[in-house]
Amino acid sequence: MNLPIGVFVPSRGQSVFKEESLSDYEALITAATQSRENAHAAYSNFRVGAALRATSGRIFGGCNVENATYGLTVCAERVAIFKAISEGERGFDAIAVVTDTDSLTPPCGACRQLIWEFCGDIPVILANLKGKVESIPMRELFPKPFDASSL
Ligand code: THU
Repeated sequence: MNLPIGVFVPSRGQSVFKEESLSDYEALITAATQSRENAHAAYSNFRVGAALRATSGRIFGGCNVENATYGLTVCAERVAIFKAISEGERGFDAIAVVTDTDSLTPPCGACRQLIWEFCGDIPVILANLKGKVESIPMRELFPKPFDASSL
């Protein structure tokens, strides 16, 4: 495998997943809930907030940003990832996704690809506005990825 220097290769063998109790994610869930307030969901009216925690401790929020073309919409998770990457952060240990639904909202397929690429096997914390919370490891959400190790 011949990779350019600096490419992050997520690995199941070197998982960064470490169990924390759900209460350790309160700040992350709060950040995602706040970001959700900024959602531009004029077409679906489905507002999503995300928050990505870097290993530096910094938290990057994101919300979904829709567009009249529909197809140019960007999900909350990818907004958070792009904000963090564009600020120079590398290495992440958790992401939270918050919606106002009884059944918690997991990341879409495109977001799973990007979370895997930049974060690897991190816990994905799903929460709603009523305080329901669940943590799912990325390896379960994205069991057979295409990534840099496939090239
Ligand atoms: N959406 C997200 O932001 N994240 C998800 O995990 C699921 C879907 C957004 C995209 C679109 O703006 C709206 O929710 C409906 O699909």
